[in-house]
Amino acid sequence: MILQEMNWIGMTVGDFEIESLIGEGSFSWVYRGRHADGVTGKAFKVAKPHEYVRALPGDSQTAAFFLQVGHVSRFNPDAAALLALQAERVRGIQDASLVSIDFVKGTEAVCYCQMELVEGLTLRQLMNRGPLPVQVFIELARCLQRLSENQSFEYHGNLTPDNILVTESEIKLVDPGYWGMIDSYNGTIPSCAVTTPAYYPSLLPDDLLALGLLIWEAAMGQSLLGAAGDSEGMDLTRVGEDLLERVMLNENIGKFFLSPILELYTPSQLRMDMPDALETFLLRALRLRVRPDGILDADSGFASFGEIAGALMTLQDQDIDDLGKITPEMDA
Ligand SMILES: Nc1ncnc2c1ncn2[C@@H]1O[C@H](COP(=O)(O)OP(=O)(O)OP(=O)(O)O)[C@@H](O)[C@H]1O
Ligand SMILES: [Mg+2]
Repeated sequence: MILQEMNWIGMTVGDFEIESLIGEGSFSWVYRGRHADGVTGKAFKVAKPHEYVRALPGDSQTAAFFLQVGHVSRFNPDAAALLALQAERVRGIQDASLVSIDFVKGTEAVCYCQMELVEGLTLRQLMNRGPLPVQVFIELARCLQRLSENQSFEYHGNLTPDNILVTESEIKLVDPGYWGMIDSYNGTIPSCAVTTPAYYPSLLPDDLLALGLLIWEAAMGQSLLGAAGDSEGMDLTRVGEDLLERVMLNENIGKFFLSPILELYTPSQLRMDMPDALETFLLRALRLRVRPDGILDADSGFASFGEIAGALMTLQDQDIDDLGKITPEMDA
């Protein structure tokens, strides 16, 4: 199959004409379609055929990991199977914060789903525009709290700046992660994680930590984790035993995405105008704290999304209303 054949722009799908490409990930393309009535819009997510599936470069991209005992390796899942599994999970959860999926259609040639078209900006677009209101994260934390109380939710598993859409009136989550068994082009993979390591460094469906990493990124202007690291060779004199143990527990089973946290600079080391309350919040959202002796160590962190929402409201009470550059000229 040649590339041009996979371009859906101009095609008619049901009553919709495909107008443009909205996004491309490792495993799929997402298109915008317009109904024959000229008004109604829908989004179409199309699974890439085998020959197009490829992990996009960088650990800020969604990738698939084969989880074996003591070892982790990347693989390419069957994109159609993945799309069907993701769509099925979203369709099983009734919540206004999750994108609503009309149907999934799979033929031998192509697998796609039709879903509501969310008219909004991604969290990444908003972060790139400038300081983000704390209120956005309060809303996000509230959505996640509600979802976490929903028996059928379990996890989103891929909260990244690209998978959170913010509209005039609400937040919509798209593109969930996946844990479990899946087909690949080389047979069935019994245990996999399809997620983004920069936000899920332990390759576990830990949405609470992902939210902390997102808030950190909004406040500090760049993502904290990305590339895999290795504690061997790092200067470990600034970190406490509990934090080191947390990282080693990951490294011992082949997970190296959390390791760069050992070389973390605290917000106040990077930004002279960092308010103490925001510094403490940001570290706690990553389950970290600075001990009285100045050592960076592990902390139990926030117990729930609701607790994060509450702590963000406390920041607002202290006139911290935006996350992002406060006085750029004071950057370290
Ligand atoms: N229903 C939707 N309405 C509007 N925009 C959407 C919708 N779904 C996705 N998008 C946009 O398209 C982008 C890509 O979609 P999505 O995250 O679902 O797939 P992906 O990351 O490209 O796929 P994958 O990583 O699974 O290959 C999103 O970042 C978002 O900006
Ligand atoms: Mg995505």
